[in-house]
Amino acid sequence: MTLDASRRVVALVPAAGRGVRLGESTPKAFVPVGGSPMLARAVDGLIASGVVDRIVIMAPIEMIDAARQLLTAHAPAVGSLPVDVVAGGAERTDSVRAGMAAAPEATHFLVHDAARALTPPALIARVTAELTAGRHAVVPGIAVADTIKSVSAAGDVTGTPDRAGLRAIQTPQGFDAELLRAAYAVDLPVTDDAGLVEAFGATVRVIPGDPLAFKITDQLDLRLANALVAESAADEKAASAQVVPR
Ligand code: CTP
Ligand code: MG
Repeated sequence: MTLDASRRVVALVPAAGRGVRLGESTPKAFVPVGGSPMLARAVDGLIASGVVDRIVIMAPIEMIDAARQLLTAHAPAVGSLPVDVVAGGAERTDSVRAGMAAAPEATHFLVHDAARALTPPALIARVTAELTAGRHAVVPGIAVADTIKSVSAAGDVTGTPDRAGLRAIQTPQGFDAELLRAAYAVDLPVTDDAGLVEAFGATVRVIPGDPLAFKITDQLDLRLANALVAESAADEKAASAQVVPR
């Protein structure tokens, strides 16, 4: 929660995708990880960061009631700040636009994918701290492990950018609200919000991301996420067993 009374940090959570690559029967944000839907885990993380004033979730229109119910059932911290669910759109940019429209009071936006369900609250706090320090656009990024090549439509390599200068970009992405609203006034096909802000001409600062903020995209990612949650639950159980007196 912010100390500055005039600052309103609103987290927009795109959760309206279908999850085609994951291939489950429910939309991806509603698929459980370690027993809790991804959306509930992402919302819990935002609340635990302590830096968010309000959360707006963009869900598939037919899942709006289900989203409200699952938050009550699975996100125990909901109730400590306002959480609203609105209808998303056909593309991710349409969903973000719908979320922005529902939060005219925002001075800053954090746009955070529901699919990055295990994002550590500390990363969310770090992005917000950069905004508070005066940056206008802040994204987390991690070094890429693979060599990246550009490839022509025919399948021939057209270039090999220096890996040292590349980052894989995560969320939450933080922005001055006015900047994001202005950047979204144009309609360009981009895969993240910073892409629109870059096209608008603003500088986007990259800060160190966190491997746990990975996006659950396919079945391998889902297996990894489930294994990580199971492992940390086992660690917690072992730790609490140690403090129980004999
Ligand atoms: N998203 C959204 N509205 C859309 C498309 C995506 O709110 N029209 C959200 C997703 O719910 C997800 C995030 O944006 O939390 C990142 O998108 P992605 O990982 O691509 O999820 P999906 O679009 O659901 O997956 P896929 O592309 O495999 O269908
Ligand atoms: Mg998608």
